[in-house]
Formats: sequence, structure tokens, C-alpha cells
Amino acid sequence: MYPKLIDLKTVSTPNLGSLSFFEADHDIPFPIKRIYYIHGVSKNIQRGAHAHKQLKQLLFCPYGAVKILMDDGHDKAEIILDDPSKGLIITPCIWRDMLWLVDNSVLCVAASDYYDEGDYIRDYNEFITWINR
Ligand code: TYD
Repeated sequence: MYPKLIDLKTVSTPNLGSLSFFEADHDIPFPIKRIYYIHGVSKNIQRGAHAHKQLKQLLFCPYGAVKILMDDGHDKAEIILDDPSKGLIITPCIWRDMLWLVDNSVLCVAASDYYDEGDYIRDYNEFITWINR
């Protein structure tokens, strides 16, 4: 499994907080075609339950804490995103669930392509068949 937690470049200014940033191709290994974010979610809500066939994504959590549960069909891994200066790169073909640990946590995603429902696998058995094809 290749999900990778990365340190986002962060500039901290005394008494003024911090600014984190990333640049397509420079800091993450794909061009960005889409940004989306999930918000207004209560603690203990779980979303996700899908994999992508081709899409690459960088997940980051600028506010709150979200647990990302990943499964490549062989191994499982969990990462808590609770630091705005960290990002999680998820390669294609990873089944993922996202569990909100804190009310109103914001989960942001920079994605390598436009929205395409045809790139989703939303059935776990279909996912296993897909990775073993
Ligand atoms: P989905 O990716 O299933 O969200 P989650 O995994 O967090 O539960 O998307 C939820 C809905 O939003 C689904 O109907 C597809 C739609 N959607 C778009 O229209 N455009 C987008 O860029 C994304 C990510 C989702």
C-alpha cells in the first residue's frame, strides 16, 4: 500500500500563526484538476466507502481531526489527520473510509482529475475483483 503522509511546507510567523501550502508537481506528484472539501460533519460520522480506479488525491485537514482508514485488498492502514501541516497522498485502488473524530472537522482534497462517477468503485466485492483483475 502506498498512501504517504507528507509534511506540507509551512511558514510560521511569531504571534501570527502559520501558513501551509503545496504546489502541484513540485510538492505533490500529480497535477491538480480539482479541489473539494467536506464540512458540516458531526463527530462519529463515517463517509467514504469507495475506491478510485485512477484518481490520485492529497487529503489534508485544516481544522479538526479525521481518521482515514485504508485497505488495498491485502493490508489495512489508518492515519489520523489532525495537523493542518500534514497531507496524505492516496494512490489509486485504495478502499477508504473517513471517520470524523471532531465535530465540523474540514477534510480537503486536491485531486488529479475532474469528478467522474465512472472512476468510483462503491461496492467492496467489486473492488476486490478489480484489484485482482
Ligand atoms: P463522495 O465522493 O461519495 O463523498 P464521500 O466519500 O465523502 O462520502 O461524494 C458525495 C457526493 O458528491 C456524490 O453524490 C458525488 C458528489 N460529488 C460531486 O458531484 N463532485 C465531486 O467533486 C465529488 C468529490 C463528489
